[in-house]
Amino acid sequence: MGRLIVVSNRVPTAGRAADIGGLAVALKGALTSGGLWFGWSGETTANDADPEAVKSRIDGNVAFSVVDLSEQDVREYYLGFANRALWPLLHYRADLMEFRQQDYEGYRRVNRRFARLLSRQVRADDLIWVHDYHLIPLAEELRRQGLRNRIGFFLHIPWPSPDVFSAMPRGRDLLTAFEAYDLVGFQTDRDAANFADCLTRAEQGEKLKNRIGAFPISIAAKEFATLAAEAAAHPIAQKLETSLRGRKLMIGVDRLDYTKGIDRRMESFGHFLEKTPSAKGNVVYLQVTPKTRSEVPEYADMQRRIAEIAGRINGAFSDLDWMPIRYLNRTIRHEALAGLYRMAAVGLVTPLRDGMNLVAKEFIAAQDEEDPGVLVLSRFAGAAGELDGALIVNPHDIEATAAAFAKAVTMPLEERRRRWRTMFDHLCSNDVVVWRERFLNEIAPSRAPRMKAAV
Ligand code: F6P
Repeated sequence: MGRLIVVSNRVPTAGRAADIGGLAVALKGALTSGGLWFGWSGETTANDADPEAVKSRIDGNVAFSVVDLSEQDVREYYLGFANRALWPLLHYRADLMEFRQQDYEGYRRVNRRFARLLSRQVRADDLIWVHDYHLIPLAEELRRQGLRNRIGFFLHIPWPSPDVFSAMPRGRDLLTAFEAYDLVGFQTDRDAANFADCLTRAEQGEKLKNRIGAFPISIAAKEFATLAAEAAAHPIAQKLETSLRGRKLMIGVDRLDYTKGIDRRMESFGHFLEKTPSAKGNVVYLQVTPKTRSEVPEYADMQRRIAEIAGRINGAFSDLDWMPIRYLNRTIRHEALAGLYRMAAVGLVTPLRDGMNLVAKEFIAAQDEEDPGVLVLSRFAGAAGELDGALIVNPHDIEATAAAFAKAVTMPLEERRRRWRTMFDHLCSNDVVVWRERFLNEIAPSRAPRMKAAV
């Protein structure tokens, strides 16, 4: 049997920052049976560095092969086309899209180079699984290198309707690039349907239509529950618990990104404080927000905006011994985060648009079944299609979201248990292994016995 080769822009050999975001965590889960993981090292080199250099290492049953990117590659491929054109557009923000032909050429160039370097390592019976919007043209380039392997693609972020996608200047090229895949997976039925509609509108990809599916990504639910139970003793969790002095904790954990709705969430929290006198002095909202892509101007603007809102609300409501919002621009290690989720009375996951959002799933898995917290979840996160025991909100409606915060902090134990149980059971039978098996069985039915899919 051939190996599983996972390809993604971020690979967690690149240092701690690489673990930010659900993709790296989920792909670690997908590779538990071993394989090869290929992608960017996270390092930037001078433009004249050796383009053929590949760094390899082995960690348990996974071999890692990573390449550096030149300054020009990072500017054009990563910060440019991937994160200033595709990222906003696929999150329905055509207004924020900055398309430059030179960036697009850099995007195609890096995909070509990845294909050239990866193809040297591929054996005939390997299965290649490409991840996310950075690498849409990779299969097309691998085919040009002569590869005939099964190649699948999974998109971790949303796919918008044809009206939105039509704003993409090289949209036709991108849709054509998908034809080189044997299977194209999306997070939700809606994303898959939107993609099929884009093909119909462009009169493209007739054959591809039978190779599209929804495969909602997940987490290692039981393992994360165990991690969270142990993490209560983690020094970071203990430090926070001591500092809370019995106050209720509301927690939000998101990369600093305009899609995450952190600004509106803070405004909702301010409104909640205004309308709920009993919350004053008794509730603390911890927002953990590591920074990525800071060189992209929209991210710097968002950073200023959120800091300003947090400062304004803290200025208006703080007392000598209480500050309502604690806003941290740093990463907290996964094993400590699990403990913070478990300690929280309320989890806030209110993106304006999100492929899935694995924080929502981790928050549920981390809860103490005797005394579970409440999840407030945006209807625009893919996770809302599965986690129906959450309080579902429209994050654009500040007042209704604030009312959901009030309902969450006062929800009776019985209702909390009932809501949590259905969600936790769902996650246990739809974990990251089921996600991987559903995709791999679909692309190569002979590879492994078909597992029952409950989603
Ligand atoms: O899940 C979306 C995603 O863009 C992943 O592809 C990525 O690894 C993660 O978010 C973090 O973003 P970045 O790699 O740009 O820091």
